[in-house]
Amino acid sequence: MPEVIKVGIIGLGTVGTGVVKLLEEQKKDLVWKAGCRLEIAKILVKNLNKKRNVDIDNKLLTDNWEEFINDPEIQIVIEVMGGIEPARTYILAALEAGKHVVTANKDLMAEYGKELFDAANKHNLDLAFEASVAGGIPIIRPLKQCLAGNTITEILGIINGTTNYILTKMTNEHVSFDTALKEAQKLGYAEADPRADIEGFDAARKLAILASIAFYNRVTLKDVYVEGISKLSLKDITYAKELGFVVKLIGVAKNTLEGIEARVHPMLIPISHPLASVNDSFNAVFVKGNAIGEAMFYGRGAGELPTASAVMGDVIDVARNIIHNCTGRIACTCFFHNSHKPIDKVIAKYYIRMHVADKPGVLASIAGVFGNHDVSLATVIQKHRSGNMAEIVVITDDVEEKHIQDALQVIKGLSIVSEISSLIRVYSEE
Ligand code: NAP
Ligand code: HSE
Repeated sequence: MPEVIKVGIIGLGTVGTGVVKLLEEQKKDLVWKAGCRLEIAKILVKNLNKKRNVDIDNKLLTDNWEEFINDPEIQIVIEVMGGIEPARTYILAALEAGKHVVTANKDLMAEYGKELFDAANKHNLDLAFEASVAGGIPIIRPLKQCLAGNTITEILGIINGTTNYILTKMTNEHVSFDTALKEAQKLGYAEADPRADIEGFDAARKLAILASIAFYNRVTLKDVYVEGISKLSLKDITYAKELGFVVKLIGVAKNTLEGIEARVHPMLIPISHPLASVNDSFNAVFVKGNAIGEAMFYGRGAGELPTASAVMGDVIDVARNIIHNCTGRIACTCFFHNSHKPIDKVIAKYYIRMHVADKPGVLASIAGVFGNHDVSLATVIQKHRSGNMAEIVVITDDVEEKHIQDALQVIKGLSIVSEISSLIRVYSEE
């Protein structure tokens, strides 16, 4: 049994700093938790002169990749640098060199998961990525292991901390979008390029990873329909609140007879639903399984120590596997390649806000077009009148997306309609 296992860390930003802090804080306990001491051999960074937020022996830092990868002492590489390249090349090289890998990189796992797993399998190595989805919340391991006795049919959740922080601040404190985003960046929640968060791609990558694991199918970013929160207006958030909803960025994945449905977009959630009270950087993931029924995983979805907590769980697991000589045990589980259900076929309820002429017969004309497209209306409210214009909000019953899009195409062309201002999907049990 090894007395010490050496780790090499790539990246010393928000997550890397948390990992270094936990390795130090847990130093004594790791001996009995992991079965050996875990020591840092090297930390690869970009800028050696940067001031660090953690006490670190400067001799451990290097900006030389060759020096890092050729260190024979390193048995586990912890990649917390982010992005596709050079992270992909570095992880492949680490695996090729016989080193186990722990990563928090959802960009890579969502797009190059197969390639990385193939490399890990070839050498019987561990590739662990718990921190890549929902920060500190355990969800990858529960899906792969604890819930393996179920057929999972659905995943629904809030899986991006930055957008949830922004929406919470806008809804509860009327803070502007830009100010809330700056706060989220300062708190270390946002990606290096925050457009990945606000345009929904970070959540879409995480959903692709969750759907792949839950449905034993290969799901990648391109299979996910994505809409972010950048076009949401404060007006819709306010109107939603008046109607008994909160607006959240939601990821939905379903394994249906018509294929795998995977989508990320803003959604009106009834205030009575548990997801409505998931605020700030917290995430929550609902999982539906045939045996367990519904399970909800809740916790901090981003930030230094919550994310480092997930990374450390993986590192300890890999150390245990090394000690017990059972590495590479849980490999890739994407056994199937089912088709993907296009967004046109998705069934949902819709909130639509539009500006129309304020005169008799307008509502009847619009209702007529919806009716002709099999769209049934649950709620119609006139919100605001000014001059000869009125603002109306419509909430539909469950309907196929194609019917809504076709109806709106016709409605847009009516002379009595000046603008369709927003369309947001509404939570539906369907
Ligand atoms: P970050 O704060 O931007 O830190 C990135 C680190 O990587 C920095 O230390 C940087 O070095 C280093 N780096 C960048 N390019 C490099 C290169 N070419 N060679 C060597 N080092 C390089 O990022 P982060 O927020 O910690 O995120 C890291 C990863 O964790 C990402 O994949 C992210 O998606 C994921 N993640 C983050 C969170 C979160 O809450 N932040 C949560 C879950 C998952 P310098 O310091 O020298 O510039
Ligand atoms: N930028 C990500 C988020 C970090 O806000 O959720 C956690 O993956």
